[in-house]
Amino acid sequence: MSCSSTPFLICLCLSLSALTLLTATKAEVPAVIVFGDSSVDSGNNNVISTLLKSNFQPYGRDFYGGQPTGRFCNGRIPPDFISEAFGLKPAVPAYLDPAYNISDFATGVCFASAGTGYDNATSNVLNVIPLWKEMEYYKEYQRQLRAYVGEKKANRILREALYLMSLGTNDFLENYYTFPTRRSQFSVRQYQDFLLELGENFIRELHGVGVRKLSITGLPPMGVFATGEGHQHPGTKRLCTRVQQCGIRIQQEIGRPGGKTEQTTPWNANGVCTCV
Ligand SMILES: *[C@@H]1O[C@H](CO)[C@@H](O)[C@H](O)[C@H]1NC(C)=O
Ligand SMILES: *[C@@H]1O[C@H](CO)[C@@H](O)[C@H](O)[C@H]1NC(C)=O
Repeated sequence: MSCSSTPFLICLCLSLSALTLLTATKAEVPAVIVFGDSSVDSGNNNVISTLLKSNFQPYGRDFYGGQPTGRFCNGRIPPDFISEAFGLKPAVPAYLDPAYNISDFATGVCFASAGTGYDNATSNVLNVIPLWKEMEYYKEYQRQLRAYVGEKKANRILREALYLMSLGTNDFLENYYTFPTRRSQFSVRQYQDFLLELGENFIRELHGVGVRKLSITGLPPMGVFATGEGHQHPGTKRLCTRVQQCGIRIQQEIGRPGGKTEQTTPWNANGVCTCV
């Protein structure tokens, strides 16, 4: 459960290579649009009926105003920095946050939900927003944007926007290794393939509705991945190693030119976000 369900502060930082890539990109980026889990959720879980929230101290301690926002972080999260690096807002608003509307979302919006994964069964665990629902919200956003700025301008924004996807760890940590259902259906290898297929379908659907610049992250090496004290138990180290191998394989497979998914540019399979 990347950076979630723990009262401890998790520090999120941008990898140097991602920043370099971003600043080197000359193409216009009129908006940053985000899908994923707690690594990039900027407050959607605040508004839904789940236990998985971060709307309390010390979350937000170093955010503007020192208030918790629903980010699973002491301060800003990677999409916020990326948005700022493109000269856009210094914080990407959550789609479900009633404090914002389409005039704010025109330059960036976040559909992410802490605790979600590629697998529907993962989002069911803590009753968070499943990935298919993030897609529904995105399509609704497309319609709102067209109504707000007009068809032509909206299409340009949607086409030129930078899309960030960050998820996948919850499928293993919160689901596969926690509950027996998926383990009884799939070997690790088969579950990886299942997730790859779900990821591929999601990306194809995004492509079908006009998405062209996509960064996929969220499955960093999880060798030192802490999901909270309660998860520390004998065997954790072995589990981490296995999860790490799964993560690396999925990340490589999705990002590989000519791999399971066609490459779209600019493609950055390796790390906008690293949890430490
Ligand atoms: C968005 O909210 C602002 C106030 O927060 C309001 O002035 C504006 O009219 C709203 N825009 C739309 C399109 O609803
Ligand atoms: C996940 O749930 C949605 C909504 O019920 C459904 O359309 C979709 O087919 C499901 N995905 C899988 C892989 O079962």
